[in-house]
Amino acid sequence: MTTNVTDRLIPAWSAEQKRDFRKAPIVFAHRLAETGLFDDEALAALLDRYPAELYDINLFDYDDEGRASMRTGVRGRLPGEKVLEGIKDGRVWVQLRRVEQHYEGLAPVIHAAFREISREAPGFRPVQLNGQLILSAPQAKVPFHADAPGVCLFHMRGRKRIWIYPADEVHMPQTGMEDIMLKQQTEDLPYNRGMDAAAQVFDLTPGMAATWPLHAPHRIENQEGFNVSLSVDYQTWGTRITNGAHYANGIFRRKGIPVAAMDRTPMPARTALWAASLALKRAGLVEDKIANLDRSFELDGVKT
Ligand SMILES: [Fe+2]
Repeated sequence: MTTNVTDRLIPAWSAEQKRDFRKAPIVFAHRLAETGLFDDEALAALLDRYPAELYDINLFDYDDEGRASMRTGVRGRLPGEKVLEGIKDGRVWVQLRRVEQHYEGLAPVIHAAFREISREAPGFRPVQLNGQLILSAPQAKVPFHADAPGVCLFHMRGRKRIWIYPADEVHMPQTGMEDIMLKQQTEDLPYNRGMDAAAQVFDLTPGMAATWPLHAPHRIENQEGFNVSLSVDYQTWGTRITNGAHYANGIFRRKGIPVAAMDRTPMPARTALWAASLALKRAGLVEDKIANLDRSFELDGVKT
């Protein structure tokens, strides 16, 4: 069934959801799946036509501590239908990047959903949205990591559990975020099981969405079924300025210049650091170490 995007996609929030939005992890209801855009047939057709450069296939291997190693591959020559079968069978994880531009039917739905979130949370003004459609196996996991932008995770199919940790120095060291901004490391972070005591845990079923404070680390374990989720990164002026400040701090720290704790850096000072980051980025002082992550296999087995 196709739902007109002018219908309500995000039911009204409670006072607690409104209060906690971006200050603490929250879950909320959504109706994105009613568009039919996440059914098998629609997904298989999308996989067939999706631009190869925006199509990631990952395989994860885990040790006893839950630490992951990841192999990244490309689609090979498999038709979308077969890729879907591969995902349902194994520990394969497919990510289609920039769906807000390249999944025609979904783009207006994402924008409508965010307009409705802004209606529930007045003052929330995203200036940039970037969507990734994630298709994953019943037993797939996403390792402990933090994202540079803000994130809303809309869950559509299957069941997954998410652990969301405080964005404090213990779980998300400031130097780690500086390294992420300077692209000196991927978004994976040091993790041990002991950290779980501080996490808030949510079981996401179809029709639920989760969001959390900027830079809060999180990890995910699928619980059952073929999982389909839409992760939408957002930037507001506030997140851009904070991220720019981390970038500038990372450069200054490397030059031996003292850097203040971000949670004690008021917005005017962050804005000055962000302005400095624009010039520093133009100067290109730091080499991007993750631009060419090796793609080590193809799903149809041509290359291993
Ligand atoms: Fe994430």
